[in-house]
Amino acid sequence: MLSIALANTATKVTNPGLPAMTTVSTTLPLSLSLDQFRDLRDIIYEKSGIFFAENKLYLLENRLGRRLKELQLPSFGDYIDHIRNQHGASSEFHQIYNAVTINETFFFRFQAQLEVFKKLFADLTKQRLAQGNRSIDIWSAASSSGEELYTLAIIVNELLGPAAPNWKIQLLGTDISHRALKRAKDATYSKNSFRGSMTEAQKQHYFVEEGNLFRVNNKIRDMVQFRYLNLNEVSAIRSMANVDFIFCRNVMIYFDDEMKKRVMRSMYGMLNHGGYFFLGEAESLHGISSSFKVEHFSGAFVYKKE
Ligand SMILES: C[S@@+](CC[C@H](N)C(=O)[O-])C[C@H]1O[C@@H](n2cnc3c(N)ncnc32)[C@H](O)[C@@H]1O
Repeated sequence: MLSIALANTATKVTNPGLPAMTTVSTTLPLSLSLDQFRDLRDIIYEKSGIFFAENKLYLLENRLGRRLKELQLPSFGDYIDHIRNQHGASSEFHQIYNAVTINETFFFRFQAQLEVFKKLFADLTKQRLAQGNRSIDIWSAASSSGEELYTLAIIVNELLGPAAPNWKIQLLGTDISHRALKRAKDATYSKNSFRGSMTEAQKQHYFVEEGNLFRVNNKIRDMVQFRYLNLNEVSAIRSMANVDFIFCRNVMIYFDDEMKKRVMRSMYGMLNHGGYFFLGEAESLHGISSSFKVEHFSGAFVYKKE
C-alpha cells in the first residue's frame, strides 16, 4: 500500500519520552477502496478500452498514487472527482495513459513472424510494380517506444536496397501513451531494447553509439512517423484507410472481448484487400473475428483480408 506524508496529518502528541507538545509527522495510507477502483477502472475503460480485472487494484493504486502525490490530492475520491469532469483527450487522461500502459517492447521481436513479413512484403512489391504502383502502407498500431516500427523500417530498407528512393513506403507508428511516443521520436535506446534477434552488423549499421545508448541513424528515422492514436476511437482508426500491413502486437491483451471486437471490425475495414494483419506471438483472433483468412508459415501465422 502506498503512503504519502500529508501536511495536515502533523499531529500534536504528548509523549512521556519527549518534551511536552512535540509535533510528530504521521502518514496516512493513500489507499484505493474496491468501489473507487471500480469507478476508476470504468472511467479508464470507457476512454481507452484498457480493462483492469479486480486483481489489478494494487497496480492502479500504485501507479496512480504517484500522480495523486504530484497533484497533492489527499485521496483517490478527490482524484476521481478531478477526472470525472475531464474529456478523454484532456491532459489528465494522458497522464493516466502514461501511468497505466505497459510499454514493453524490443527490436526484432518475434523473428519467425518478421520472416513472414519479409516474404509478404517482397511479394507485394512485385505485384505493385506490375501495376505501376510504388506505394505501400505499414501501420504499427501500438508502437510503444518505437522498436517495432524501426525494426520494420530496417527490414524494408534492406529488402528494397538501392531501389528504396523509387518507392513511397509509409511507416506509421501510433500509440495512446505520449511518453512512449516521445521515446519513439527520440529514437535512443539502452541495451534492453536489443534482446531480440537483431544482428551485431545491423546494430553497427543502423545505430549511432552515444555513451551507453544507441540512437537510430537519420536514414531510418526519416522513413518513419509517430503520432497519437487511441484504438478506442473508431473514427481515429477509420482515418487510416488503405493500409497494406497492420501490426497490432501485444496490445489486445489489455482489452476485453467487446473492445477487441470493436477494434477488429474497424481495422478490418481499413486494410486493403490482400492486406495482412499481425498479432503478437501469444495472441489470436479466435472468438474475436472470423473475417480473415488464416495463413500458416513456419513458426508463425498471419491474418489475410481476401
Ligand atoms: C506491450 S506494448 C506493445 C508494443 C509493440 N507492439 C510490441 O509488440 O512490441 C503495448 C502498447 O499498447 C499501447 N496501448 C494500450 N492501449 C491502447 C489504446 N487504446 N490505443 C493505442 N495504444 C494503446 C500502450 O501504450 C503500449 O505502448
